[in-house]
Formats: sequence, structure tokens, C-alpha cells
Amino acid sequence: MGAIPTKPATTEMLELQNLSKSYGDRPVLEGISLSIAKGEIVSILGPSGCGKSTLLNLVLGLTEASAGRIVYDGEDLTHVPMEKRGFNIVFQDYALFPNLNAYENIVYGLRNFPDRATPEELHDLIELLGLERHLNQRIEELSGGQRQRVALARTLVMKPRLLLLDEPLSALDGLIKESIKTRIRTIARQLDLTTLIVTHDPEEALTLSDKVLIINEGRIAQFGTPQEIISRPADDFIRKFILSQLTIKRDNIYRLFGNFDGMEGADAPGAVPLPVGAALTGAALRSSVSAGAF
Ligand SMILES: Nc1ncnc2c1ncn2[C@@H]1O[C@H](COP(=O)(O)OP(=O)(O)O)[C@@H](O)[C@H]1O
Ligand SMILES: [Mg+2]
Repeated sequence: MGAIPTKPATTEMLELQNLSKSYGDRPVLEGISLSIAKGEIVSILGPSGCGKSTLLNLVLGLTEASAGRIVYDGEDLTHVPMEKRGFNIVFQDYALFPNLNAYENIVYGLRNFPDRATPEELHDLIELLGLERHLNQRIEELSGGQRQRVALARTLVMKPRLLLLDEPLSALDGLIKESIKTRIRTIARQLDLTTLIVTHDPEEALTLSDKVLIINEGRIAQFGTPQEIISRPADDFIRKFILSQLTIKRDNIYRLFGNFDGMEGADAPGAVPLPVGAALTGAALRSSVSAGAF
């Protein structure tokens, strides 16, 4: 991931102003206010049931806000219907059409908007997501990672102004997850696409995004860069729920591989010999990712 530059914050694109949502008299989200710059990747992180998907659906326009405003590029979208917002989402279960093959899924939205992407743009996107060899396959014949890439292509071909992803990696594991993470970052950078990603995994949020919005019980616990969250956690919830998960993971890895700086060198002082497969780090991982191995 180191090869992809971090995004300097520039223009504010999406602004949430005191956004709240209740179901009946039960508040789910309260007083959500934040600004996101164009091209920024923001993760929405928090435990199950804290209101992450609700926030994404409010921005998408699938759910109506109880109070507050959603402003995009200076325009108040709070009461603008979903199809007029120009945003697009990849749902957690991908929601692909099982009766269509991969290619038919990807171009599905173009049936009503054939001018949205040129044949060259469609080709580039398919190549970027490494789907060339899978276009004629049925959805049931595809792996989890391949399905995720088809879902991403189907959404991106419509050129959304804002990309929303609900737990895009939670059904994937290991190297497949890293591969999709890299692709999401590459695409967001190449298209300068503002991207909101829901996740419940602190490692995913902190390694994937420019900024992380941590939600606890429907309120913002902290909104900041991964470095800010790690070095200055705003409260005990973040220290206990978010950071302790990461330090446990880090300590497990150190225990396995030896306590040394930089995981590249198997011969670093104090390192135990790496097991087979552990060599697939750094350059090897990046080349397998770019070769579309998943
Ligand atoms: N349509 C709905 N009607 C009533 N309650 C809902 C609805 N959608 C979500 N909720 C409730 O709102 C809370 C937050 O849900 P959600 O945003 O899906 O959480 P998360 O995505 O963080 O797991 C949960 O308690 C959930 O039961
Ligand atoms: Mg959810």
C-alpha cells in the first residue's frame, strides 16, 4: 500500500450537518456533523448496531433523515431523491443478479444510460479490476473476491460522484482482502472519487482510509486521520474497543515473528525463521495483486 500516495485534503465535498435518525422514538444516530474533502477515502468504524449502515443509507438517500442536512458540493441534498443524488453503493452482500453473467452484471446500469461510459472506459475498468477472464462466467461460478470486483465494476461504470461501500471486505479474508483494499484505494485515487466505507474492523479502517469516523452508540466518538486516532484516541471507548484490538494483533505477530523493526528481513536481529508462505510480503504481494491473482 506504500506505493499509493496519501491524499492532501483540499475542497470540502460532502458535509453532514447535525444529522440525526430515529426509528419511532428510538434514536439511532444523533448530531452527526463532519466534512469530507473531494477524493478522500473515509471509513465509518464502530461495533455492530452502532448505526454505520444507517449513516451510509442516509447519505445514499435510501433512508430519510429525521433532522439535519446533507450538503454535497454546496448543494443541499437532504430531500433530493436517491436517483438524483448521483451517488452509488456496493451493498454488503453485493446484490449481483444471479441469472446474468459477470459482464451482463457490470453493464446492467448502462442499459438506461448508454452514454455514461465509452467502450474504452468500460474496457479500462474491467482491466483495472482484473476481470477480463471472468466476463462470461455466471455469478455462482465466481469466488468471493471476484464477485466483489464485479460489484465494484457495476457501480463504478455508472461514474458515481460519491462511492459508498458497506462492509466491502467482511466476506473476504487474507490476501484477497488486501488485494481488494489496494484496488479500492487505486480506483479512488485514479478517479479522484470521494469514498465512504463502512467497516467494523479497526485494522481495515486504519489501513485503508485517509480518515476514520468512529461511531459509538449513534454519536461520533472521533473523526480523524489514522495517525491522530492512534496517537490521540479521544476516549476510553476508542482506547479499549479500537486500539486494544490492534495492539493484541501486533503483539501476536511480534510473538510469532520476533520483536524487530520492519517485517521484511527474516534475518533481522531476534527474528525467528519465517514459515513457508510468510515470504509473500511486500513486493511479492504487490505483484500477485497487480496480476489479478484473486
Ligand atoms: N428500518 C429500521 N427500522 C428500525 N430499526 C432499524 C432499522 N434499520 C436499522 N435499525 C436499527 O438501528 C440500529 C443501527 O443499525 P445499523 O445502522 O444497521 O447498524 P450497523 O450497520 O452499525 O451494524 C440497530 O439497532 C438497528 O436495529
Ligand atoms: Mg451494517
